[in-house]
Amino acid sequence: MAQNTTQHNIRTTDIDKKIVSSIDNGILIVDEELTVHHYNKWLELQTKIKESDILGKKLGDIFPSINTKTLLRKIKTALRMGTPTFYTASTSKYLIPIKINQIKNSNFTHMQQDVSIIPFDHEKKQVALILTDQTIMAQTHVLLQENIKKVEELNAQLLKEKEHSQRQHKQLLAHSRSAAMGEMISMIAHQWRQPLSLINTIIAGLQLKQEMQILTKENMHSSFEKVEKTVFYLSETINDFRDYFKPNKTITEVNLSELFNKSMYFLTNEITQSDIQYNANIDTNIVIQTYKNELLQCIINIIKNSLDAFLESDIKEKKISINAEKKGDMIFITIQDNAGGIEEEILNKIFEPYFSTKSKNGTGLGLYMCKTIISEHLHGKITVESQNNSTTTLMELPYKLEKKQ
Ligand SMILES: Nc1ncnc2c1ncn2[C@@H]1O[C@H](COP(=O)(O)OP(=O)(O)OP(=O)(O)O)[C@@H](O)[C@H]1O
Ligand SMILES: [Mg+2]
Repeated sequence: MAQNTTQHNIRTTDIDKKIVSSIDNGILIVDEELTVHHYNKWLELQTKIKESDILGKKLGDIFPSINTKTLLRKIKTALRMGTPTFYTASTSKYLIPIKINQIKNSNFTHMQQDVSIIPFDHEKKQVALILTDQTIMAQTHVLLQENIKKVEELNAQLLKEKEHSQRQHKQLLAHSRSAAMGEMISMIAHQWRQPLSLINTIIAGLQLKQEMQILTKENMHSSFEKVEKTVFYLSETINDFRDYFKPNKTITEVNLSELFNKSMYFLTNEITQSDIQYNANIDTNIVIQTYKNELLQCIINIIKNSLDAFLESDIKEKKISINAEKKGDMIFITIQDNAGGIEEEILNKIFEPYFSTKSKNGTGLGLYMCKTIISEHLHGKITVESQNNSTTTLMELPYKLEKKQ
């Protein structure tokens, strides 16, 4: 029996030496008065206070920073319940003040600790406090919080920038719409020039005949009829332009060949004046479903670019060729000119708003508007290629555009 007790004592000392002393945790035993009964090696090393200097003393007297009230409450709970209680040192608080070698960018000067309070001797009302170093965890937590904050800030900034660019985009569209309107007015003026001068000639003829007193009823009648027809043509022109430059609200069936004819009707003056061979190779049976006026505006913008380019070049045999082909669910339309081509350095800029190489009359919004309309409204794609003095614009459009839900 005596041998047993000795063996038991030896084992206890062993456990104390091998485990309690060398464990990588702080272990101290205190009673309900917070009087220290044990202070392990780890704590001696960390605090540079010897166990012999601390035994029998009050923990709160040695470490005044300890919140003794909270600690005592926790100790009493552990003793009353007879089970361990845990007490997580929240960031920046610590139980035993242990200064740490401050790592770069560390937020802490002292070790962050978690404490387990384990009932040790019920009669003597003693508990063991086991301290765990949680500095790295706490540091990680702080870093995480900082990064979360940063991500949130970036998100907010991104949102702001998105709103800003959406606003800018709307302004640009409004600007390009007014530019298109100006263009429409100048096209109407073009279309009107000839009929107006016809009316002038008819009236001058009537006046002359009247002065020479050779004006007959038939003369008057046929002249008025001509004037009437021409005036009708003038008002039709206005209607046509107005209808086509109004954005469509509904998707309709569009005969592609007719749509190109319409674009020619709007640009006919410029094409004939510049002596351009226009060749459209479009199957008259191709009927697609899309926003008609938007597509027409794009076509006009693209052909106008070719016409502008011809004005700045001295090419003899000017050609514009149009092709359309259906492949699967898509329709591929190419508009090609031989007006000199686009230099490679600027090819990737031509869709940017306000990019223009034209010294006058170029807002640089034409292709930007085409891209916006085609990708956002017509759910298609537009690309421009340039080779050997020739520019090819390719539009890929869904054959049947479905309205977005
Ligand atoms: N067919 C083409 N041939 C040569 N250059 C072209 C052609 N199409 C476009 N470009 C170039 O792309 C630029 C941008 O075209 P975009 O239609 O966006 O603007 P713009 O024609 O200059 O101005 P706007 O369309 O307002 O009259 C033009 O300034 C021109 O340099
Ligand atoms: Mg243009």
